[in-house]
Amino acid sequence: MDAVPSTPGKFKTERAYYQRLLLQRWIHNHRLFVSVLIGFAFLAVVLLLSPHPSSSLTSSRRHLSTYGHAPWGGPAWEKHVRASASPRVRPSSSRRSISVLVTGAGGFVGSHASLALKRRGDGVLGLDNFNDYYDTSLKRARQALLERAGVFVVEGDINDPDLLRKLFDVVPFTHVLHLAAQAGVRYALRDPASYVRSNVAGLVAVLEAARSATPQPAIVWASSSSVYGLNSKVPFSESDRTDRPASLYAATKKAGEEIAHAYNHIYGLSITGLRFFTVYGPWGRPDMAYFFFTKDILRGKPISVYEGPDHTTVARDFTYIDDIVRGCLAALDTAQKSTGTGGKKRGPAQLRTYNLGNTTPVPVGDLVAILERLLKVKAIRKVMKMPRNGDVQFTHANISLAQRELGYRPTTDLHTGLKKFVRWYLDYYSRSSSLGKKISGIGGLSS
Ligand SMILES: *[C@@H]1O[C@H](CO)[C@@H](O)[C@H](O)[C@H]1NC(C)=O
Repeated sequence: MDAVPSTPGKFKTERAYYQRLLLQRWIHNHRLFVSVLIGFAFLAVVLLLSPHPSSSLTSSRRHLSTYGHAPWGGPAWEKHVRASASPRVRPSSSRRSISVLVTGAGGFVGSHASLALKRRGDGVLGLDNFNDYYDTSLKRARQALLERAGVFVVEGDINDPDLLRKLFDVVPFTHVLHLAAQAGVRYALRDPASYVRSNVAGLVAVLEAARSATPQPAIVWASSSSVYGLNSKVPFSESDRTDRPASLYAATKKAGEEIAHAYNHIYGLSITGLRFFTVYGPWGRPDMAYFFFTKDILRGKPISVYEGPDHTTVARDFTYIDDIVRGCLAALDTAQKSTGTGGKKRGPAQLRTYNLGNTTPVPVGDLVAILERLLKVKAIRKVMKMPRNGDVQFTHANISLAQRELGYRPTTDLHTGLKKFVRWYLDYYSRSSSLGKKISGIGGLSS
């Protein structure tokens, strides 16, 4: 305190000088902190001045949206949404109808599950971003089937919180069947970010919307058998370790299971994760082996048949789509209500995980043999060592838990299921090539 002024007149200027000095010294001593502070302030200004990222994304998406119902929102759109999501009135029924938001409704499992729900009288609203990971015309053809059955598919992204909030504002969904995801194992080598966006951020966005909704819906969502990763103990049981994923896809699904645990714990959301085992059937995904094997065999192109080390077989527990759909519906029907309200947990809620498989692993060679017989064309096989970029050698589900608690009982063997797939494939692609139109005259999804 050696700078205390001696006269009152001088006092003010001296004090100001002194304060400036102190400030300068403080800044000097805390220059790291100050520069961080300035950095944050600068960042805040930049963020405030730039257009809102999600709204700019939304508006560009709206401009790009050319199919069907242009931008979402408005009274006509809301009416359409409500009509689709309302259960059919059935005076005499033991089962209480539910109202389900199905994400990924333009996808393979999503379209089948939506139709099955609608068929039995439940309210269903679809949501899909119709991304071009695979042929979008196949997704559009599924959508056309859904629309004919009275299922409206909103075109939008699960990562659009405004849209999700709006949907929950318009409809008091009792359940969400969350199937939207970035699928495929090897594609992660090309676009890893898409897996994080859909399977991690997208899941969180859906759970965020669900936990703030009133009422909170119960969630059933698609995990994957790939979470068993490098496990060699078979069959795979739900209690087995899942901490050694062999692909980014598997890692994001495993992350999803942990995220589900957190949302169940914090907000009282009732959540059921289903670990699907190699789902196949009519209207399936073109990136899956049974699908592109069929395509290549018919075109006389060689197919790569993988084998494990020392010529061991690669096998999959192929599960037919109708069996999977029955498992999804059973999971929805047995789901207890979420316990939270107003975004707050009011009590412990249900948290479940089930394998949905077929319990009979089939070597990939046998799959090819069945396809050859059904297509009446000999395949040109190129036997190759399976690359270590995500696929596991063997999957085999222990389904006794789903059997006991969901009444899940798969009934379709691979030959029967592939026969239905091949019949659909030939019909669909002969129509699409001869008529240029893929939706006319094709019956239900599970025909
Ligand atoms: C299958 O899973 C159940 C638990 O649901 C377990 O009790 C049983 O031991 C498992 N079976 C095999 C063969 O691993």
